[in-house]
Amino acid sequence: KILKDGILSVPLPPPEEVKDIASFDFDKDKSTVSITVVGASGDLAKKKIFPALFALFYEGCLPEHFTICGYARSKMSDAELRTMVSKTLTCRIDQRENCGEKMDQFLERCFYHPGQYDSEENFLELDRKLKEHEAGRVANRLFYLSIPPNIFVDAVKCASSSASSANGWTRVIVEKPFGRDSESSAALTRSLKQYLDEDQIFRIDHYLGKELVENLSVLRFSNLIFEPLWSRQYIRNVQFIFAEDFGTEGRGGYFDNYGIIRDIMQNHLLQMLAIFAMETPVSLDAEDIRNEKVKVLRSMRPLRLDDVVVGQYKSHTRGGVKYPAYTDDKTVPAGSLTPTFAAAALFIDNARWDGVPFLMKAGKALHDRRAEIRVQFRHVPGNLYNKNIGTDLDLATNELVIRVQPDEAIYLKINNKVPGLGMRLDRSNLNLLYAARYSKEIPDAYERLLLDAIEGERRLFIRSDELNAAWSLFSPVLKELEEKKIVPEYYPYGSRGPVCSHYLAAKYKVRWG
Ligand code: NDP
Ligand code: BG6
Repeated sequence: KILKDGILSVPLPPPEEVKDIASFDFDKDKSTVSITVVGASGDLAKKKIFPALFALFYEGCLPEHFTICGYARSKMSDAELRTMVSKTLTCRIDQRENCGEKMDQFLERCFYHPGQYDSEENFLELDRKLKEHEAGRVANRLFYLSIPPNIFVDAVKCASSSASSANGWTRVIVEKPFGRDSESSAALTRSLKQYLDEDQIFRIDHYLGKELVENLSVLRFSNLIFEPLWSRQYIRNVQFIFAEDFGTEGRGGYFDNYGIIRDIMQNHLLQMLAIFAMETPVSLDAEDIRNEKVKVLRSMRPLRLDDVVVGQYKSHTRGGVKYPAYTDDKTVPAGSLTPTFAAAALFIDNARWDGVPFLMKAGKALHDRRAEIRVQFRHVPGNLYNKNIGTDLDLATNELVIRVQPDEAIYLKINNKVPGLGMRLDRSNLNLLYAARYSKEIPDAYERLLLDAIEGERRLFIRSDELNAAWSLFSPVLKELEEKKIVPEYYPYGSRGPVCSHYLAAKYKVRWG
């Protein structure tokens, strides 16, 4: 099968279907995990948390003894919780198998306890209920706070004083938003630390659980061809793009208090940037990785107002359908200036990245849905092939695209000779399309993150100093935008967004990918 010159003539075999999850340390007979979803009646719990827990159960990743308890103020019986949860579970993991039986087994382990978020008494009742299920085993407890941020601290206080584990670990997963700015975030951290140690707090940024984001360090640090190019010497600019083709539907009340910069840029896009740009960590240990992320965030310049543009979607009629404006949402105050779109240019003042623009663009109600990292390389020195490339030399530079979603892929745009007797070049892609290469469905980000929290793996969770560093970059500009009441540029629902983002990019000689 080997050709004379040593090149393999056989196509690459599909990768082996190996179980890639480390085995558990749990002592099977003696320990148990109780997972309490606080805010179990809510949107996130239904959409993401219960389905992710089921997927872990289905994959055999939950320990033998586990209990899932929903906790919220709504009145619900165990049976009603199970009915609610069952509506969101799917057999997507392996559609060839009938997973109905597995679903029933999973639902049997789900219970509900109604209670207030600030009631020690209600959490004591929860503790008693959990103990019944734990049946004298070493009881590890995980609380997932899927509630609005103004009640985080009350819930943590009650959970830690009345329902924490007596003989195992107690961990708390906290959902964003982690404050609105540096001060409120620091205050939240201080309050949480009254009741929990830092290593009990798992701050979630679900983008860190996405397959392609996890793969970013593998791509960089395990492929010799990329790391030497990963610097100002070869990279012209890097773009982090987030687009959704729907508006704030149903979440306008929450969104208006935050806006797109806090909702997407300060966390999801900045986390991707930190992993993209950090130096090689000493090891894959959580603290080594987070140390490098903090270092690169601290090397960044706080964002300036000159380097930010904002937009807000307005209503638009297309094909006879009227799409609403952001302010048509009843929960959004009339005349709100909250941005639903923003673009920004950030800079890292260190030896590797000096002068390279890191551009971010995030928007709701745009024409497509995607999350991507685009790395645009410099021009090839000299002009050997310029005349064969066409007039737009910018278009002929290499570009590496990491498509986080949808249709996960990594592709590299290269110049290639068009086959034939002439000498004309065109741009082609070296393309790693996940769906073509890997048969297994990609797990949802929440599956990975929940599993990590159960295993005590902190690598993909945000440490408090990292959070401080992230807020210091955005807080000043957010304050200025609000104090100066900067009016966003209005763009039609379903469009490509406001033109101001192109002016911002042009200022740094960048063209959005
Ligand atoms: P919800 O608004 O659906 O709230 C969750 C539950 O909290 C509700 O079912 C309700 O339960 C209780 N609750 C709501 N408002 C209040 C209130 N004012 N006082 C006391 N209890 C209240 O939130 P989501 O499920 O959408 O989100 C949960 C958390 O996750 C939030 O922090 C959110 O920012 C974050 N998040 C959500 C995402 C999503 O896609 N939904 C994405 C990323 C983060 P009950 O009345 O039964 O007590
Ligand atoms: C959340 C934001 O963190 O991420 C939402 O609050 C956004 O506004 C969501 O829609 C996007 O997540 P995903 O995984 O669907 O890209």
